[in-house]
Amino acid sequence: MFIVLGVTGGIAAYKSVMLARAFVEAGHDVHVVPTEDALRFVGTPTWEAISRNPVTTSVHDDVPEVRHVALGQRADLVVVAPATANTLARMTAGLADDLLGTTLLATRAPVLVAPAMHTEMWEHPSTVHNIAVLRDRGVHVIGPESGRLTGTDSGPGRMTEPDGIAQAAFALLGDAPQHTAGTTDPGPATTPLPAADAGETRAILDLDGISMLVSAGGTREPIDPVRFIGNRSSGRQGVAIALAAADRGADVTLFAANIDESILAAADAHPGIVIVHVSSAADLEHEISVRADGADVIVMTAAVSDYRVDGTSDQKIRKEDHPDEAPTLHLVQNPDILKGLATDRWPGQTIIGFAAETAESTEELLERGRRKRARKGVDLLAVNEVGWSSGFEQEQNTLHLIDAHDDVLRTVTGTKRQAAEGLLDTILRVRAR
Ligand code: CTP
Repeated sequence: MFIVLGVTGGIAAYKSVMLARAFVEAGHDVHVVPTEDALRFVGTPTWEAISRNPVTTSVHDDVPEVRHVALGQRADLVVVAPATANTLARMTAGLADDLLGTTLLATRAPVLVAPAMHTEMWEHPSTVHNIAVLRDRGVHVIGPESGRLTGTDSGPGRMTEPDGIAQAAFALLGDAPQHTAGTTDPGPATTPLPAADAGETRAILDLDGISMLVSAGGTREPIDPVRFIGNRSSGRQGVAIALAAADRGADVTLFAANIDESILAAADAHPGIVIVHVSSAADLEHEISVRADGADVIVMTAAVSDYRVDGTSDQKIRKEDHPDEAPTLHLVQNPDILKGLATDRWPGQTIIGFAAETAESTEELLERGRRKRARKGVDLLAVNEVGWSSGFEQEQNTLHLIDAHDDVLRTVTGTKRQAAEGLLDTILRVRAR
């Protein structure tokens, strides 16, 4: 296969030498396209020796061969590792003032990027936006991981190790429509792939063979035929997890508790997702418990009412029936579904809970999260902060992922899709232990 390896100007460029070697050793035809900046970190002779192909950065080399578009047209896969914040911004804008830029615009092959940068840059709204746009276009993003960064700081921003990037690349090659190098006319380079196609054909199938149950939305506890006790959960985060997992190859059952049809539409159309509609906590408990044994992973994002009304009225409660005083609702506690699933889980099954908490500080938020994780006995608890005007019905989210050792394995900030991808990466990490 014809692999283009774009290398951009970050210290992690040295690790991409190992990545190029892994591609060559697997028998692929590797063409390294460094940016000018990348050559400050690793020079042309190293790339040429490792890839066994000539290396240029300029669109003015090999003009008779139209190299500035030929590489992109011939590629079966383009990998950009490391991808700096600047490169992600340039990709988003479609800038093409060097060979990597033109190659990325001219290709219709799958594109995999491995971001590497300082945490502040990764979490900056510009980068968050750029990553979301690139993902929407079907670009695959691997990492970054949390860990030691250049200098003394640490946090999310470290490039995924070459081995992990190579595995993701091989998975894409197995899945992607394959061109024979140099013989296929990929059509006009400017024709964009439809977003749905890009999502379906370009996924890294690292959850292939995994059966996953995801609950989403908020339960409703009936008071009478026309009223209920509910909550503000829209279901967006759970639906994003179901979609991301199904795109990555999982068989997903989505338990949808009172989710708006417009939010559910994409999941409804996805061949990898079965939707089970539920309303109350009792419905959810029944539907999920009958399927729990067959699941490898259970993610409970649904906001479950802790209480239900004792003795629901079959008739509408009317004011004229209570002329003198307001009626009193007697509540009884619902079972804790998540705790029950965690208690009954089989070895190898991974149970993930969610907690939307109000807190005065991040420390308090994490402390509450740690206590709740222990109470529920789950493998991972995703904690997010909510308030009157934050956390609900929004496209952005921040999740702190707390594991069974009380460690915050990762904090993911971004769109709900980005948060979902980060959660799935972390679930794989927990399962690999
Ligand atoms: N959950 C559940 N069953 C319940 C309540 C909650 O399965 N009866 C699950 C939710 O789906 C979520 C996690 O437990 O994954 C945490 O929900 P939360 O409402 O924060 O937990 P509670 O135990 O109700 O704690 P709190 O008293 O803070 O509301």
